[in-house]
Amino acid sequence: MCYCKCGHGGMNATALSLEQTPPLSVPLRFFLTAPLFVMAAAGVLLWYGPVALSSRWMSPLLAVTHLVTLGFLAMIMVGAVQQLLPILMASPVPRPRLTSTMIHLLLTTGTLLLGAGMLTGRPGLFIVAMVTLGLGLLIFIAVVAYCLVRARSSHATVSAMALAIISLLVTAGIGLVLAGGYGLASLQLPRYLTDLHLIWGMLGWVGLLVIGVAYQVVPMFQLTSNYPAVVMRWLPRLLFAALLLWSAALLLPDSYYWLVLLGGGGLGAGYIGFAMITLLLQQRRRRRVSDVSTDFWRLALVSLLLAMLVWGADGFSLLQQGELLLGILLIMGFAMSVVSGMLYKIVPFLLWLHLNNHLQVAGRWGAKIPNMKQILPQQRSRWQFWSQLAALPMMLAAAQWPELLTRPAAVCLLFAFALLWWNLLDGVRTYLRYVRSA
Ligand code: HEM
Repeated sequence: MCYCKCGHGGMNATALSLEQTPPLSVPLRFFLTAPLFVMAAAGVLLWYGPVALSSRWMSPLLAVTHLVTLGFLAMIMVGAVQQLLPILMASPVPRPRLTSTMIHLLLTTGTLLLGAGMLTGRPGLFIVAMVTLGLGLLIFIAVVAYCLVRARSSHATVSAMALAIISLLVTAGIGLVLAGGYGLASLQLPRYLTDLHLIWGMLGWVGLLVIGVAYQVVPMFQLTSNYPAVVMRWLPRLLFAALLLWSAALLLPDSYYWLVLLGGGGLGAGYIGFAMITLLLQQRRRRRVSDVSTDFWRLALVSLLLAMLVWGADGFSLLQQGELLLGILLIMGFAMSVVSGMLYKIVPFLLWLHLNNHLQVAGRWGAKIPNMKQILPQQRSRWQFWSQLAALPMMLAAAQWPELLTRPAAVCLLFAFALLWWNLLDGVRTYLRYVRSA
């Protein structure tokens, strides 16, 4: 039941530690920077054209991958975690403004430098990127670890977030070694680590964080029942154990191939289970209002299911370009859709909340406050959803027919994320208009 006048249809705001919320600029700087990185990635695809999609090892594709995974996904997830820690776990980040400024600056410059290094092949750029990215992610990991320990909660979200943060540490650690292979003459590129790096990134850091956050936000925002207690407790642990098994298998001699099957099977089963349970919860929800965020979640979960099928089929060499399809389904179909769906809930809610606080502080108790749907109009969010939905099959098709479709797919991507950026910016403008009039 909703006790507030926010118009978002059901979250019990009093249950959350809202008074601990950090300044609006803390998460917003991450959310407003992120779509620009996808626009830059689309620009790279437009510039380089079909050659970028001709193999997973092409340097423009590596640059596109990191503009998206670090510039968009990590950027938003890092911003959202700093917002969620105080609200969901009553464990605020110390010195939030200073901490977020440092992390944001280091992550932004580091990602740009890594992208530039990948495009130009200049070792110096890799080295500066290693320092900035390494420092930025390390500060973030240390701060979150401190907040999680202090939260002293055994809630499933806390343990999933902790496992996600460990996975980020592994991903970034291997990423730095790989970058060293490009930047340092003394180090040969250890390509046997690349698969480990990307699996820990996508199915560890991104996947586990999405699961942990889903436990809270799916029931809260989409008015579903809670996830079953046994799933909440064991799923992240099972997935983490499967990641460990799979990694050990990759590093051990071929005779341990059965470990790949065991680890891969565990990961596949775990993620398929998560997608099916979430879709089922949404199917049975109490109030079925059409809502763009839920549509993004559905798109994400269907993509996750497809990705797991492609992964299995690719393992049996049934597909051409299977690796690219898998990457597109996981990164664009699953992760980017979840994150966009979350933005459409978190951003209007935060703008509404801060506006409310602002008007109260200004003594304007009776002032008219726009509801969340007025801050970010549904119609425009829906258009943006359709454009992002259209970009996904275009991108998948471009992986099959790069000559024909790379540039049209890049245009779709550019358009979809320019629209996302514009929508977010417009929400902020509405907020500022009301603040000024107060
Ligand atoms: C400190 C941060 C990071 C650094 C320095 C870094 C560096 C690198 C480097 C140098 C490669 C190329 C490896 C090769 O040529 O074999 C690579 C590949 C890759 N990275 Fe990262 N990375 C970072 C973070 C991430 C994150 C957070 C993700 C995902 C969430 C990610 C996803 C990927 C993927 C998917 C590939 C493989 C692309 C392919 O094989 O086609 N990286 N990374």
